[in-house]
Amino acid sequence: MAKPRVQFICQACGNVSSRWAGKCDACGEWNTLIEEGTAGGIGSGPSALRSARKGRAVALTSLSGEIEDAPRIASGIGELDRATGGGFVRGSALLVGGDPGIGKSTLLTQAAAALAGKGHRIVYVSGEEAVAQIRLRAQRLGVASSAVELAAETNVEDILATIADGRRPDLVILDSIQTLWTDAADSAPGTVTQVRAAAQTMIRYAKSTGAAIVLVGHVTKEGQIAGPRVVEHMVDAVLYFEGEGGHHFRILRTVKNRFGPTDEIGVFEMGDKGLREVSNPSELFLGERHAAAPGAAVFAGIEGTRPVLVEIQALVAPTSLGTPRRAVVGWDSARLAMVLAVLEAHCGVRFGQHDVYLNVAGGYRITEPAADLAVAAALVSSLTGLALPADCVYFGEISLSSAIRPVAHAQQRLKEAEKLGFGQAVLPRGGEDTGGNDRLFQPATLADLVVRIAGSL
Ligand code: TYD
Ligand code: MG
Repeated sequence: MAKPRVQFICQACGNVSSRWAGKCDACGEWNTLIEEGTAGGIGSGPSALRSARKGRAVALTSLSGEIEDAPRIASGIGELDRATGGGFVRGSALLVGGDPGIGKSTLLTQAAAALAGKGHRIVYVSGEEAVAQIRLRAQRLGVASSAVELAAETNVEDILATIADGRRPDLVILDSIQTLWTDAADSAPGTVTQVRAAAQTMIRYAKSTGAAIVLVGHVTKEGQIAGPRVVEHMVDAVLYFEGEGGHHFRILRTVKNRFGPTDEIGVFEMGDKGLREVSNPSELFLGERHAAAPGAAVFAGIEGTRPVLVEIQALVAPTSLGTPRRAVVGWDSARLAMVLAVLEAHCGVRFGQHDVYLNVAGGYRITEPAADLAVAAALVSSLTGLALPADCVYFGEISLSSAIRPVAHAQQRLKEAEKLGFGQAVLPRGGEDTGGNDRLFQPATLADLVVRIAGSL
């Protein structure tokens, strides 16, 4: 019999190597390689001995007519349904990742209760908390009397046996994948082999029965426990639940979705009684805004199909260091460096003797390049000490040549700004007909905007 081969698997990215090393070659994480046997891994064991069964191929064209939209179960929690693209898809697997303590279990308990209230059979399997603890949370959320079935199990075979009792479930929530283990793999629970094998068994269960499954995964920094990344490619949709420490806002961001859009977000606010939906995020992100101060500019952004207005704050202060500091919260630091370079090279604005701090209000994170213009306006405003008009919004992408490039959905951004009482806007020139409105300023280059804000520097 062949000698079982030893392999080392990175617990952060799943890369396999034959020798141990302090640093993973693939993802660069330190101390993440752990020895895991190959025997009993996926694809071996009894199932590998099974004789082959002939499948049946069907012509793609013969499927037309049979397929409608993916059958979904909507939770009725609008922000969650928005992020999933309309509800949980039957027969599919969804991964909800996020930092520990961000509110994943809270969100899914609320979703489970809402769905059970509509007559669906929902099973909530927790490997982290005892049934009594889950019930305590449910009491706090005011859903303790809902018909959700709770189970505290970690073994996948036991879970399947538990679920098999009674009517076929519509949704199974597994909280979390890191606690699951299957008899088919012989590594310790929480290792890549176990997490993958357990996830695969559950996904197979979903496909064969038509139940939707939700896998909860903690994002881990230390890498001793396999993170959600190792199952991302196996599931149909991946949502990340994010939030800044100290803020109550939570954002559910879609990063992969085989059945819907991937740029949607759901916005929630965490309170004593659980997560509350925020259907108008702009009001929330601008809620803490005071009178216009130098360094603040409002960005009119788009998340998926929805406009989001958010304040960008810059502080430009003389430095006492040889190399000035550049610190960014909520935006890409490489883009900040680019905007600073364009301001220096094309607009004559110097930051070499200044520290630059940039913050997006409310713990929100911007991913759109359209924020360039608002960032540039905030930087120039802070440097010159001149406050921008309080009722003005900014959007537009800046190219390295200092030209301001058009961005999508200009009308939608303007409409949202108008709704929230903003009377002016600075935006790119473009195909949109802005009707000669003198409340709109459409500079061709960043230098034009700098002149407008600061006069001639
Ligand atoms: P939890 O859902 O357990 O996080 P996760 O499953 O992602 O690890 O939520 C943990 C945090 O949320 C905890 O710090 C307490 C807080 N919380 C509230 O503020 N209000 C609530 O109603 C609940 C249930 C939790
Ligand atoms: Mg939890």
